Order: sequence, then C-alpha cells, then structure tokens
Amino acid sequence: REDITVLGLESSCDETGVGVVSVKLAGDDSGNVTLLADEVASSVDEHARYGGVVPEIASRAHLEALVPTMRRALAAAGIERPDAIAATIGPGLAGALLVGAAAAKAYAAAWGVPFYAINHLGGHVAVDALEHGPLPPCVALLVSGGHTSLLHVPSLGQPLVELGATMDDAAGEAYDKVARLLGLGYPGGPVLDALAKQGNRDAIAFPRGMTGPRDSRHAFSFSGLKTAVARYVETTHRRGEVVDRADVAASFQEAVADVLSMKAVRAATDLGVGTLVISGGVAANSRLRELAQSRCDAAGIELRVPKPRLCTDNGAMIASLGAHLIHAGAEPSSLSVATNPALS
Ligand code: KG4
Ligand code: ZN
Repeated sequence: REDITVLGLESSCDETGVGVVSVKLAGDDSGNVTLLADEVASSVDEHARYGGVVPEIASRAHLEALVPTMRRALAAAGIERPDAIAATIGPGLAGALLVGAAAAKAYAAAWGVPFYAINHLGGHVAVDALEHGPLPPCVALLVSGGHTSLLHVPSLGQPLVELGATMDDAAGEAYDKVARLLGLGYPGGPVLDALAKQGNRDAIAFPRGMTGPRDSRHAFSFSGLKTAVARYVETTHRRGEVVDRADVAASFQEAVADVLSMKAVRAATDLGVGTLVISGGVAANSRLRELAQSRCDAAGIELRVPKPRLCTDNGAMIASLGAHLIHAGAEPSSLSVATNPALS
C-alpha cells in the first residue's frame, strides 16, 4: 500500500476535533500530507458566561460531541475507517484528554488499526505542513489560551526541543483577562484585536515582560502586563477620568506582539534556522502577524502562519503529526499509554 489515511482526535481543551489526512509512504521522501477532513465541535459558548474554560463542562461536551464529530469526519473523508488513529494525550485538561484518548484507543482496538499517542504542542506545529507543504527545520512560536512556548523543530517526527515558555499566564490568557477587566466579552482576543485598531498603540507605555538583560532569552511573562493594565484602569477611574478602551487595547496588544515577535525571530536567528512558524489561537492576531512579518523580512527568515481555522485546536493537526511520525517510521503506541495533563 502506498497511501494511508490517518485519523486524528483532539480533546485537550474545549474543542472536540476529528481530522483525517492521507500520507504517501512508499517511494516518497517529502512527507507530503494531504488534508481530507477537519471537523470541529466547540463548547466555547458554554464557557463564555464563566469567562474561561470550565473543565467539567468541557469533558461532558466532549462526550456528547465525540461520536457525531467522528461520523462527520469519516463521511467527509469518504472512508469507513482509517488505517491509523492518532490522539492527543497531553498537555491539557485531565478529564477532557481522557475522553478523547479513551475513545481513540477503543476505535483503534475495534478496527484493529495502530494507535499513536500525540503531543498537542507538536500538533500545532505539524498542522502547518497541511497548508504550506513539507516543513523545513524551524523555530515555532505556539501562542494560545493554554500555552506560550518557543520550540526548536529539527524535523517533524523527531522530538521537539522547548527553548522557553511562559513563566505565568499564556498570551491568550492575558488577552482574556484584560478583556474581562475592560468589560469586553470572552474570548478576549478577537474583541481586543478589533478594538485595538481604533486606538493608539503608543498611548500607554506598558511593560515588556522578560526582556531585561538578566531575563531568560526564550521565556515569557504576561502577568506583570496584566497587572499593569489593571493598575492603569484603576488609577484612571480614581482620578475621575474615562478609560479610553481602544488606547488600552492597542497599547496592551503592542506590548504582547512586540515581545512575542522579537523573541521568536531572535530564536530563529540564534539557531540559524530559516523558517519561523507561528501557531495557536493568538496567531490570528493582526498586530502579531504584522510585526512578525516585518521582523522576519528584516532578518531574512520565512514566516509561516497557518490559516486561523488550522491555528486553533483541531483534529487535523493531530492527524498531521501522526502521519509524519508514521512516515518517519515511528512504532505505534501501546493502548495502555496514559494521558498526561502536564506532558512536556
Ligand atoms: O488555540 P485556541 O483556540 O485554544 C487554546 O487555548 O488552546 O486559542 C484560544 C485563545 C484565546 O485566549 C483567545 O482569546 C485567543 O486565542 N485569540 C486571540 C485572537 N483570536 C483568538 N488573541 C489575540 N488576537 C486574536 N485575534
Ligand atoms: Zn492548543
């Protein structure tokens, strides 16, 4: 057999994702992976009134959405069963991970196909290959509501090296918290991004975390920034003045995008790789894309950002990494492999 299909199952947070890809094995060195289906059911609306993801609600939503989403993905891909199944085993919410991983193992056992345990972060990188083709050695910046990490990716299918991560809040989490502070909705990223376009990004000088001479080169920190925004809003109210929310949004966004793009491009330059991938929900951010593009252009680095639909959590990214592992000759995982909410 030359072409095989790989089904990927993602359930680490509030998205139930089932994706299907095909990969050519014999006589093909490129690791070319083709997207056949990408079905996602989200419980984001159920969490909105709490201002953040509620783990128990997410787990129940996965239970309800899993089989229907699986059926839709198989139908869209035009197959009855895949040749292999890949599923996220971490990092993520404990209960949410259990639902998806247990289901994936059950399907693998029932269908008699191999099972591959997948690291969610690697999936966020591997998804880019579905849109832009085989991925050269790169640095990846993963920015979402749950993670903010800089990774060195020598090759998909090989272990990723984490260069640094956030010491406190994830970038998307900072967006969500600042949006709540300003009385905007959840999730905060898209709302703040839109509002920032009407504001002045130089209006308020918010701090750039982890950029001091003694700070770790590849680590991030956003809780100080969040506190600075809270203090600014408080002080302005106390003076009896009106907070210009657009200016706050633009200045906050500038601080986040400045640090993320600066450190990501610097890491690529440090490591001598020619490609930077930015993925995760925050990769949709307009100012981050703009700053990263101009800094990559200046440094002679290719910037790859998957389209928003592929940047947020989905099953196709897990299928893509599974396909790359299979292409690289990886052995299937044992069905007794455990989920790990803190998987590194
Ligand atoms: O990857 P994702 O859908 O879910 C995980 O957290 O894994 O990312 C969601 C996060 C939320 O925090 C949301 O506020 C943020 O991505 N986000 C954005 C934008 N769109 C979504 N942050 C900044 N600018 C955006 N345009
Ligand atoms: Zn994610």
